[in-house]
Amino acid sequence: MKSLKHLNKYFFKYRYRLLFGTLCVIASNLFGIYPAQVVRHGIDLIIETVKVGRLMDGFDSKVSVEKTLAFNAFLFLLFIIALAVIKGVFTFLMRQTIIIASRLIEYDLKNEIFEHYQDLSLSFYRRNNTGDLMNRISEDVTRVRMYLGPAIMYTINLVVLFVLVIVTMFNVNAKLTIYVLLPLPLLSLAIYLVSDKMNRFSDSVQAQQSRLSTFVQEAFSGIRVLKSFVKEDQRGKEFAQESEHYKNKSMELVKVNALFFPLIMMLVGVSTILVIWIGGQEVIAGTITMGNIAEFIIYVNLLTWPIASIGWVTSLVQRAAASQERINEFLRITPDISDSSPTPRRGDKAMNSDMSQLPPLGGGGAINGRVEFRDVSFLYPDSGVRALDHVSFIVEPGKSLAVLGKTGAGKSTLASLIVRMYDATGGKVLIDDKEIQTFPLAALRSNIGYVPQDVFLFSDSIANNIAFGLTAPPTPQRGDQSTGQLPPLGGRGAVEQAAKDAVIYDNIMEFPKGFDTMLGERGITLSGGQKQRVSIARAIIRNPKILLFDDCLSAVDTHTEEQILHNLFRVMKDRTSLIISHRVSTVKHADYIIVLDNGKIAEQGTHESLLGTRGLYLELYEKQLLEEEVK
Ligand SMILES: Nc1ncnc2c1ncn2[C@@H]1O[C@H](COP(=O)(O)OP(=O)(O)OP(=O)(O)O)[C@@H](O)[C@H]1O
Ligand SMILES: [Mg+2]
Repeated sequence: MKSLKHLNKYFFKYRYRLLFGTLCVIASNLFGIYPAQVVRHGIDLIIETVKVGRLMDGFDSKVSVEKTLAFNAFLFLLFIIALAVIKGVFTFLMRQTIIIASRLIEYDLKNEIFEHYQDLSLSFYRRNNTGDLMNRISEDVTRVRMYLGPAIMYTINLVVLFVLVIVTMFNVNAKLTIYVLLPLPLLSLAIYLVSDKMNRFSDSVQAQQSRLSTFVQEAFSGIRVLKSFVKEDQRGKEFAQESEHYKNKSMELVKVNALFFPLIMMLVGVSTILVIWIGGQEVIAGTITMGNIAEFIIYVNLLTWPIASIGWVTSLVQRAAASQERINEFLRITPDISDSSPTPRRGDKAMNSDMSQLPPLGGGGAINGRVEFRDVSFLYPDSGVRALDHVSFIVEPGKSLAVLGKTGAGKSTLASLIVRMYDATGGKVLIDDKEIQTFPLAALRSNIGYVPQDVFLFSDSIANNIAFGLTAPPTPQRGDQSTGQLPPLGGRGAVEQAAKDAVIYDNIMEFPKGFDTMLGERGITLSGGQKQRVSIARAIIRNPKILLFDDCLSAVDTHTEEQILHNLFRVMKDRTSLIISHRVSTVKHADYIIVLDNGKIAEQGTHESLLGTRGLYLELYEKQLLEEEVK
């Protein structure tokens, strides 16, 4: 249960709402109990009047007595209806406050988790799979909400009702009360057991459901592979099998579900029979009236659901505690990579004004762009792979450095250290002679235009994908999604210029919708080389001080590569740039080249000097020249 303490801050936040809700629960219960007493008075009155009427057999006044009786009965009826309406109003208000509070807390909790997820570093995402992350922010939060809303509402309801009803019942007749209450704990226990089983079954149905969706999703994202390997039939059979599991699990759930209501009805029935049986004896003995029996039957009905809900609520709370524990487990993880000096978190109100205080990008901001690796080593914590081994180099502001190496040499790792996806495990990474950790993360990253090796584009228009690189706060500049209009700030001009620099402009203009062409799930698929170039445009539109290209020309032919490089060198003027590649043709124009091999710097120098060294560089060069000629 300790895990649920995390929610206390939210209870505090919505305390007035919850307090008002509690008052409504009390009021709605009071108006639920009064009718029972009205019914008792009504029945007793009718019985008395009928008795008096019998005595008056043969007298004229009998008619007037009967008339009064009918009128009184009608008044009682009206009174009961009025009470029921008032109870209804308070029940409505109770749900309006407590259930809405639970939805608000759910909203806050989801935002809290998402914010936290975004702060966590890459190594966290390596360790945990996406499905797990999604579950905790959706299903687990839903379970916690079930605890927040229904569980709390029914508990308050139960306590209030119990106190009010039991006291009234004992006042009427203690013996009858005890007999009537006897089956109820049993009811509660039975319901706990049934709902526990139900929850367990529905969990496994849920789990199977998500297996099914993963299966379907994978089948469709891998549809090319699936079709070309002619695996449709096999996949179809596998799907049928998974569906079969799902069906069986659902059937189990349905069976237990079907048991739920009959069980409640039976135990309520037992209570009602006891009231009439034991109560009847009491009436015969003259200790209570018939009206009391009617009153008791109403009480039993009032008490049934709240007492039954003890069992239900218990299992809800248990599930919520388990879910909240899973959520807390992630919330407790602190990001490995964070600011040494506190900077505004995303989502803080102060964000926008603080963002404007960041160094203006590219416009002679805080960063000059000197990058230095001083004896840097890096060990991947999970695999223990030593990806970088005592690497040292300096890139002066405005100069370009190329990193060449075979696959697995550690090139991408080197890039991730500059954007602080990871921190070096040995040595120091310095920017402008200051340790990289001293820069606020947001300021550092907004000064870097990073083109990652695995291109990721959003399901959005090409224009928006490129404009994503602009660092201005998104809200006011956000284009109208429905029309695909471009954000006014930065303007289409900037997007088009970036596209031209990345030699993707002509390609884009060939699409009927040009820059408004949608990408991804809702749109077209770009070729590998086109994607890379959109990704480059996204990086250079930032006007960053440091450009970081991780193998971003691997999918374009050497001719286009020449063209892009020609443009890039113009963009790269005045900027520090790191070009990572395994192709000599990409790196040969750089001011300085290092050749990485197995995490170590094997050779370094300019293109000419490296050719003179007659080592790994020359070997790669000759091999690649040969490949070009063969093509
Ligand atoms: N997240 C990771 N966890 C553990 N080991 C990793 C991780 N990423 C890379 N490695 C390992 O680190 C080494 C260097 O990888 P890196 O991605 O830096 O190579 P690369 O030079 O970029 O190769 P490529 O040219 O194929 O992109 C490899 O042996 C790789 O298996
Ligand atoms: Mg790589």
